[in-house]
Order: sequence, then structure tokens, then C-alpha cells
Amino acid sequence: MTSRPSFYITTPIYYVNDRPHVGHAYTTTVCDVMARFHRFLGCEVFFLTGTDEHGQKVQKSAQERGISPQELADRNAAEFQAVLASLNLTTDDFVRTTQPRHIRQVQAFVRRLEATGDLYLGSYEGWYDEGQEEFVPDNRASEQNYLSTVNGKPLIRASEENYFFRLSAFQDRLVALLQERPDFVRPEARRNEVLGRIQAGLADIPVSRTSFTWGIPWPGNEKHVIYVWVDALFNYITALGLGEDEEAARAKFWPAQYHVIGKEILFFHAVIWPALLMALKLPLPECVYAHSFWIRDGRKMSKSLGNFIDLETIQKYVDEFGMDAWRWFMVTQGPLGATDSDFAHEKFVSVYNTDLANTFGNSTSRVTNMIAKYFDGEVPPRGAFAVEGFDWPQSCAQTTRQVITAMRNLELHEAMNAAMSLVRQVDLYIEQTRPFTMAKNEAQRDDLAAVLYNCLEALRIASLLLWATMPQRVADFWSRIGQSIDPTTDRLEMLCEFGTLKPGTAITRGEPLFPRKETAEV
Ligand code: MSP
Repeated sequence: MTSRPSFYITTPIYYVNDRPHVGHAYTTTVCDVMARFHRFLGCEVFFLTGTDEHGQKVQKSAQERGISPQELADRNAAEFQAVLASLNLTTDDFVRTTQPRHIRQVQAFVRRLEATGDLYLGSYEGWYDEGQEEFVPDNRASEQNYLSTVNGKPLIRASEENYFFRLSAFQDRLVALLQERPDFVRPEARRNEVLGRIQAGLADIPVSRTSFTWGIPWPGNEKHVIYVWVDALFNYITALGLGEDEEAARAKFWPAQYHVIGKEILFFHAVIWPALLMALKLPLPECVYAHSFWIRDGRKMSKSLGNFIDLETIQKYVDEFGMDAWRWFMVTQGPLGATDSDFAHEKFVSVYNTDLANTFGNSTSRVTNMIAKYFDGEVPPRGAFAVEGFDWPQSCAQTTRQVITAMRNLELHEAMNAAMSLVRQVDLYIEQTRPFTMAKNEAQRDDLAAVLYNCLEALRIASLLLWATMPQRVADFWSRIGQSIDPTTDRLEMLCEFGTLKPGTAITRGEPLFPRKETAEV
């Protein structure tokens, strides 16, 4: 038996001092689409998310609320888990940095780093971004006017005894990594940015803290807690058990194919993380993909502006338009590339109508209605009728290849566009062949059968390619056309073969898959 290729994809682990919002939902949805698609391709998938529960910020927020940091973490981790369930996100595990399995392994990794000589005790005197829990070297601090680049708040002075990680020693290897593996950091603009930062010089970084206590105790020196970013980055391998037992059943998933993150945490993932892995002599992930941000009506979303798309708002969109429409919008309009995306209500409605109601929804209604009317609701025979400019087996095969390649590359927008273009071709084909006119002429019955067979078959193939993004509506479509498909065991590529649909299969009409919304409000 040949083993299935493995596919490991991760989201950042989210801070528990904030409530979940569209940003968290977005990254996790992107990864969910990738995870589903790869399962359907036949890969053995491991899709990880979780919560980042230690650090000064969490300790402070808990204090403000008059509860313990663990209580705050428990509450908010539960909320993040509820989001996964409510948005139908198919994660394989949820790692929490306060779990004993994580703590034990992080301590083991720190011990290993001590043994390799990559850590030393020193003292830090410099700038610190409290919101980001990030040490900011002097030159950068002055470049950014002593303000946080993320939340705009003033940097603070920090001065304490710390253990340091010899990041500077990895500079040359990191430059080589980015030059030799251009896909290690994507998109390209982010790679160039991070390469520039490395080439400008890397300072050793403090990896322990003594000024607060909410963290993993430093093994052998309990005055220190492990720096929250080092603790957090290790989640990607503690969830696999790599720190305890490299033979662990999940060890085969390492290295990850994708760490999907937001651009504000790129330095940690593209510099500190590979350096830690190099020090530990562990393989590096294949790609750190740093997407941009959702903004709202042209402005950054922030606590002070109070303009977050929060869970309640997300739920309203899901209630009004359906979960799949929400996912479609996230995936096709979201900030996967190097520019931010604006979340505007009018855009949501217009994308919904143009891409879903008028396209997949409308074609499905037209084709199933005609089959119901002209062929008693049974898939007609395929026939040999040919129309110039339409070679369905060829265009379906080509689209399938295009979608698979784009999905493997995390080009979700391109992939979904290609799949939807097959649906648009069906519309063109209907306009050109005019089956409703053919139906009036008994002599054209075989040709009519062939036309409707081709339409439904192309829609079926498009639906398979769209499934990872819109699992509910596509499953609904499959049941209407008499297909019972299990994307966790069936194989996408086999199902995408043109001509698989059996003539004689009973199909049913139904309510529109995506009813048009003209003046929808949420
Ligand atoms: N805990 C760290 C990550 C540690 S990973 C080892 C952290 N957590 S966070 O809760 O602040 O989540 C940040 C992530 O949420 C971003 O990297 C991104 O994936 C997502 N988003 C947060 N706001 C966002 C937008 N406005 N738009 C899109 N995604 C953003 O950083």
C-alpha cells in the first residue's frame, strides 16, 4: 500500500486577551479551505489552530477583569473553539499553550537549545512593544518614532536580566534560506521586506522575562518565564509531539507545508522561527504565507475605533446570506496578497449576486429545470452533438488542472475564479445552443439531450472544484443531482473526469441555491 502524501497547515495561535473577530475567522477559513481541498485530493491532512495564552498582555487583561489569567484563558479559548464549530471549520486539533503537553515540550526544547550553546544569560536595556510583546532594536524604534507599528501606542523602556538566543549567529543562514528558497516567504513583497530586515543586521533576542510571572517557567531558573513568542512558535511542533517523541504518530506531518499568518507577525515566523529550528537541527517549514489585513470602509479595524467585524456581525451575514456565501466572500475578496482588503457591505451584496446567485445558483436552476421539464427529471444520454468553440471534456480537464495547481499554491482567488469560469461557460453554451428552442423540435431531441448532459456534467465538475469553499451548498447540489460523495474518502481527480455522470440518474429541482438579494441589510 502506498502511503498518502501528508499536508500540514497551521493558523497563528490567537491571543486570549481579545475576542475573536473577522481577522481570526479569515485566516482560519483560508486554512480550512486548503485543508478540505487537500483531503479531497487524497492527502492525509493535519490542520492546526489554537490559542496563545501566556504573556504580559494576558496577565494584565486578567488583572483588569479581576480574574486569574488561567480563567481568562479558559473563557476565551472556549470562545475561539465555539467559533470553529459555528463556522464549520474542520481543524484536527486545537493547541493551547497552557496545556501540559505543550509546556513540557517547550521546556524540553529550551533545554536542548541550552545544550547546543545557542542561549546565554545577559541583560536587556531597550525598547519594548507591549501590545506585540516584542523587543524593538534601537534603530527600528527610532525609525518608527518610538510608537508601535501595530497599535500606535508608545514603546516602553524595558530593562531586565534575560536569557538571550543567538539570533545574530543565524544571519547568513537566514539570508541564504530566503535567497535559495524564494517560496519560503510569500507573497514576494513580504519576502523582500524580510530579507531586507535580515540583511540590515540581526541582534540576539531576549527569550525569557523576569518582570511578570504568567508564562512557562524557565527550566532550571524559576525566576524567569519563557518569552511568549518562543513559547507560542513551538506550538507548531508540540502539537505533533516532536518535543517528546520524534516517533510520535504525528511526527510525519513535519515539516509543515504552510504556516498561514498575518503580515504583522512575519518577523517571528520568517526569522526567529527558522533560526530556532536551525539551532535544533529540525527541518524548516515549506512556506510562511503572510497575508494582508481586512480593513473596514477604508480604515484599519481597531479597538479604539470600535469598528471590528465581530462575531455578532459575522453571524448576521451568515444568517442572511448563508455560511457558504460568507466563506466565498472571505476567500475570493480577502487579503491573501500584498494589499489590504476592504470589508464593505455593498461589495458583499454585489459579490454575492454576481458570483453566486447569478452564476452557480442560476445555472443550476436553469439546467435542472430543463432536465425536469424535457426529460422527466432524469439525466439524459450524453450524445455526440458538437458545438464549435466548446470542447467540454477538454475544458473541464484543463480547469481541473488549473484549480488544483492554484490551490496547491494557496492562490485561492485564482482557483475559485477558474472553477466559476466553468459555470460561466455553461451559461454561454446555453445562450448559444438555446435548448429551450431545440425542445420545440422533436428532430433535435438527441442534440437537446447532449446539450443538457454537457451542462449538468460541467456544473458537476465545477461543483467538485468549488466544494472546499462552499461545502454546504455544493453538498445540497450533489444531493439534487443524485450524487453521494464523501470528500474525505472519495478522490477529487477521479470524480472530475468528464462523463462520470450516469444517464438515467434521477435529479430533483429545489429552492434556488443562492436566492438573489437586492437590498439585503444585516
Ligand atoms: N498570538 C499571536 C500569534 C502567535 S503564532 C505562533 C498573535 N495573535 S492574534 O490574536 O493577534 O492574531 C493575529 C492573527 O490574526 C494575524 O496574524 C492574522 O492571522 C489574524 N488577523 C488579525 N487581524 C486581522 C485583520 N484585520 N485581517 C486579517 N487577519 C488578521 O498575533
